[in-house]
Amino acid sequence: MNNARTLLDRIYTDFEFAHAIADDLFPVSINRDQGIFIAKVIDRHKPKVVVELGFRYGISSLWVHSATHRPSSHIIIDPYHHIPNPPKRFTIDTFIRKQKGVILEDHMTSQEYLAKLLRQKTKVDMVFVDASQWFDSVMTDMYFVARILRLKGIVVIRNIWSKPVRKAVMYYLKNLPFTVVGIAPWQEWVIKHVPVVGELLLRVLIRPLDLCVMRLTHVDNRDWDSYIPF
Ligand SMILES: C[S@@+](CC[C@H](N)C(=O)[O-])C[C@H]1O[C@@H](n2cnc3c(N)ncnc32)[C@H](O)[C@@H]1O
Repeated sequence: MNNARTLLDRIYTDFEFAHAIADDLFPVSINRDQGIFIAKVIDRHKPKVVVELGFRYGISSLWVHSATHRPSSHIIIDPYHHIPNPPKRFTIDTFIRKQKGVILEDHMTSQEYLAKLLRQKTKVDMVFVDASQWFDSVMTDMYFVARILRLKGIVVIRNIWSKPVRKAVMYYLKNLPFTVVGIAPWQEWVIKHVPVVGELLLRVLIRPLDLCVMRLTHVDNRDWDSYIPF
């Protein structure tokens, strides 16, 4: 068990320890099942460069570092992470900032920093989206993500319960070469039909974890006037 996992185990089991960091650590942060899932996605796809949108108290960042195949580069973007309440103890912040390959960007928004990554021609293997849930924010995040993601790269999006997030995901599933990636074999039928049946099926599929995993399958070769209603 690595140090991130040891810290996480303490946070999830020791109520006082967690509250000493922040009173609202949960449900602001991902829960244990979501964290285990994200670590499994990392171990399965072995991304070298991971970008994370939305740090807050850093729980999801800890989960990234709990994976066996830790990324060599981990860019975390959140200019508002200490607003309105900074953590009472900086235990997680201190831990994350010390990890090899971590860049914690806390001046630019996800949209601004992703634009910078695109300008620099940075390529990434996996993005975890858990920042602003406004429709225009998620669409803009995804605009840049689709352009910096390597082919076969993975996007994990939290908050599918939230309509604007779900709508943005549906746009990308229907209009760009993204496909939902299944974990269990029984999900394959459902996944295949998400773009056809629509967002309600996506919601049902994702309900237990509220995380959607998408893969960029091929190069975007849409016609100039392409638009598929979503
Ligand atoms: C739900 S919290 C993230 C929780 C974190 N992923 C975890 O599970 O530990 C959402 C975060 O998104 C950040 N956020 C909101 N708008 C943003 C933006 N435009 N760019 C980057 N981060 C943003 C907020 O400051 C907040 O800390």
